[in-house]
Amino acid sequence: MKKILVTGGNGQLATCIKAIEKEVTNLHIVYTDSSNLNITNSESVDLFFSENSYDFCINCAAYTAVDLAEKEEGKAILVNETGVKNLALACDKYNTVLIHVSTDFVFDGYKNTAYNENDQTNPRGIYGVTKLKGEFAIREILTNYFIIRTSWLYSEYGNNFMKTMLRVSKDRNEISVVDDQIGTPTYAIDLAMAIFKIINIETNAYGIYNYSNEGVASWYDFACAIFDECNVKIDVKPIKTVDYPTPAERPKFSVLNKSKLKSNLNISIPHWRDSLRIAMRNFNSN
Ligand SMILES: NC(=O)c1ccc[n+]([C@@H]2O[C@H](COP(=O)([O-])OP(=O)(O)OC[C@H]3O[C@@H](n4cnc5c(N)ncnc54)[C@H](OP(=O)(O)O)[C@@H]3O)[C@@H](O)[C@H]2O)c1
Repeated sequence: MKKILVTGGNGQLATCIKAIEKEVTNLHIVYTDSSNLNITNSESVDLFFSENSYDFCINCAAYTAVDLAEKEEGKAILVNETGVKNLALACDKYNTVLIHVSTDFVFDGYKNTAYNENDQTNPRGIYGVTKLKGEFAIREILTNYFIIRTSWLYSEYGNNFMKTMLRVSKDRNEISVVDDQIGTPTYAIDLAMAIFKIINIETNAYGIYNYSNEGVASWYDFACAIFDECNVKIDVKPIKTVDYPTPAERPKFSVLNKSKLKSNLNISIPHWRDSLRIAMRNFNSN
């Protein structure tokens, strides 16, 4: 039975992994969080790996506060670069395959066709810079790794756009949402499924892969679809990014091309609209 270590176990993606792990029977999964495995502490990481042996480490730990990162660069670097480097060194030393989750924010968003894995990176904010530095650390240390760049994660767990929209719609009858940032919402349960598939197919096609749901949307489209799905009557007003300034600049366009993942790893990907329907159903039944 394969042994898997999941870091950042209380976060959204790790919770999704936990929620579907029973569907994958041949794995023994150990979940850790920042209290029992702080990835920024190199000695703890090394000790943890030395006491147990793992076939795969799924790194779900990250500093994810995109706007706050503009003020807390040191903290973001510590988790997203130093912490990732600590995991990569341990994976190298103890012969563990690292599955690391990265972001569409490594791109500047100036393209107008879907981003490939080897397109030029050029993050616009501190969060993206630190996530890219984490990727570089892995590529420098390891050959047996999967870096999965994903976008716009949401689910019935953790904090995310879908849950924020549902919450604010309870006491408002109007909301403004930007319609000039284009990407793809990704149901974190689908990403968790894809990660399990990578583990199960026993491939050595290591490298960087894009994973988002299929399709293209603006945040405005995403908001409308959420309200549509649950029959909430609310006036959704499309606005421009300039009318909703945030401390961190976001890519205007971050649709990801998933051809490499589909052909190398034979993973099929649901359309975001279909996955949203399932996510809403799961959210309402929780
Ligand atoms: N959410 C998105 O829209 C999105 C989009 C693209 C890519 N991603 C990437 O996807 C991955 C998963 O995101 P998510 O939405 O699941 O994030 P999340 O809900 O914010 O979870 C991140 C987890 O990392 C933990 N963590 C932070 N510092 C740590 C440390 N030093 N040691 C161990 N754990 C630590 C946090 O625990 P504490 O709360 O205890 O600090 C938190 O539980 C991340 O790599 C993120 O960059 C996310």
